[in-house]
Amino acid sequence: MSSFPTGVSVVTTVDADGRPRGMTCSSLSSVSLDPPVLSVCLSVTSRTLDALRAHGFFGVNLLGVRDSGVARLFADSSLSHFEHVPWQPVGGAGLPRLGGDTVAFAACRVAEAKAVGDHVVVFGEVFGTDCAGGTPLLYGRRRFAAWPQPTPDPA
Ligand SMILES: Cc1cc2nc3c(=O)[nH]c(=O)nc-3n(C[C@H](O)[C@H](O)[C@H](O)COP(=O)(O)O)c2cc1C
Repeated sequence: MSSFPTGVSVVTTVDADGRPRGMTCSSLSSVSLDPPVLSVCLSVTSRTLDALRAHGFFGVNLLGVRDSGVARLFADSSLSHFEHVPWQPVGGAGLPRLGGDTVAFAACRVAEAKAVGDHVVVFGEVFGTDCAGGTPLLYGRRRFAAWPQPTPDPA
C-alpha cells in the first residue's frame, strides 16, 4: 500500500478531560455525498480513537504542502502535539482546527464504527466544512511530497 500515494490529514477530537487529541491519518476516504460521509481507519491502539468514540465527534484537517513537520509531529505519540502548532477549537463540539498550512477542515459526527482486524473503520457524517485553499501535502513510499505541477497533454 505504500505504493498507493494519498493526501495527509490530522484527525482531531477532545478527550474526556477536555484536552485536544490528534493523530496523523492517511487512510481518509470519501464514502457518500448524500448524506456527506467520510471514513478513517484508526489503529485499535490509538488514543485518538478512544477519545473520538467517547466524544462522538471528530475533525479532519487536510494538510498543506508546508505541513510535513505537522504530519511527523502528530505521528509521534510521545509528544505534546498541540503546544507546537497553531490551533483553535471550533463549533459546539470544540473540535481542534489546525492553523498553519491546512488546506481544508471537515467537522464530523461519529455515525458508525466497525472493527476490522487491528483497525477500526470510523464513518463520520460531515456537518461542517471550510476550505482555505492552497497546495495539498502528499504521502507515499514513506515520503512526503508536493502536489505535482500539471504536465502538458501529449499533442
Ligand atoms: C503519513 C502517516 C499516515 C498515517 N496514517 C495512519 C492511519 O491512517 N491510521 C492509523 O491508525 N495510524 C496512522 N498513522 C500513524 C499514527 O499517526 C500514529 O500511530 C500516532 O502516534 C497515533 O497517535 P495516538 O495514539 O495519539 O492516537 C500514520 C502516520 C503517518 C506518518
